[in-house]
Amino acid sequence: VHGGLGSAHGKAILMGEHSVVYGAPAVALPLLDLQTAASVREANHGSISSDLYTGPLHAAPRELKPVVTALRATAERVGLNSDSFEIVISSTVPLERGLGSSAAVAAAMVRAVSNAVGVALTPEETFELVQIAENVAHGTSSGLDAHAVRSLSPVRFQSGQPTPVTVARSLTFVIADTGTSGSTSAAVNGVRMLRKVNPSFVNGIIDTLAGLAEDTITALGAGDAAALGQHMSAGHEQLARLGVSAPSLDALVTAARMSGAHGAKLTGSGLGGCVLALVDGADSADGVIDAMKAAGATQAWKTSLVSSQIA
Ligand code: MEV
Repeated sequence: VHGGLGSAHGKAILMGEHSVVYGAPAVALPLLDLQTAASVREANHGSISSDLYTGPLHAAPRELKPVVTALRATAERVGLNSDSFEIVISSTVPLERGLGSSAAVAAAMVRAVSNAVGVALTPEETFELVQIAENVAHGTSSGLDAHAVRSLSPVRFQSGQPTPVTVARSLTFVIADTGTSGSTSAAVNGVRMLRKVNPSFVNGIIDTLAGLAEDTITALGAGDAAALGQHMSAGHEQLARLGVSAPSLDALVTAARMSGAHGAKLTGSGLGGCVLALVDGADSADGVIDAMKAAGATQAWKTSLVSSQIA
C-alpha cells in the first residue's frame, strides 16, 4: 500500500429533492467551500480515524457503517485486504444537514483506496461504490448526491443520468442551518407512505416539482435570478405539502424572503437541516444572513456559484 489520497465536496439541491426519487429531474450545486479528504496508510489492523471515532473497522459506530461497508467493497474491488490499512477521514461538510456529507465521505474514501493501489476506477465504478454507502445510510437513494459531490459544475440528474447545467452568470446563495438534523430515510419513507395513501395528491406535487426543475434550468441558463428565486420559493411550498418541511425551516425561508432574498427553500431531504436562499449579490447577503440568524439559524454563510464552476 502506498499512501492514497482522495477528496470530494458538499452539495446543495437547488430543485427536485424527493421528486427525483420518482424519476423527475433534479438540479444540484457543488459546494466547493465544504471539503472532505481521505487518506490511506499501511496498518496492522483495518481501522478508521475520523472526528467521530478512531479504532478498528469492526467496532465502528452506527454513523460510520455506510462508509465502512463501502470501504470493504472498495478494497475488495481493487484487490486490497481491508485489514491491512487505516483510512483517515477529515471533513468540513456538516453531518445530516442535507449537504451531502455521507456521499462526500464515501467518494473521498473510494478515491483514496483506489489511489493507494494505483487502480483507476471508471466514473461508473466509483459511483456504484459510493452508492453502496448511500444505500446503507439512506435506504434506496436516487444517486443524485453521489454524482453531485464529484461534479465541479451544477448538475441535472434524472433516472440515473447526470448532465452538466449551463449557468449564464455568477450567483450568490446563502445557506442557513436550522441546527437540527434531518433523517433522509425518515423523510423519504414519509413521502413513500403518503404516496401510497394518496397517490394522486403526491403525483401532482411530483409533476409540479418536475416542471420547477426544468424552469430552474431555464432560469440558470438565462441568468434570471428573480425567476430562479421565485421557482425556489415555489419549490419550498411543494416540499412543505409533501410533509418534509418543519417550522424551523419555514421560519428561515420566511426570514430570507422578508429580508430581500430572491427566494428560498429547504435543501436536501428536509425535516431539519438547511435552507438555501438566492440573494442579490454578495452585498445583500449579510442582511439575509442576519435575518436568518435572528429567525433561529445556528449558522448561515454565503456561497457563490463562480465562473470556474460554470459549465
Ligand atoms: C437527498 O439528498 C435527496 C433525496 O431526494 C433522496 C434521494 O435523492 O435519494 C431526498
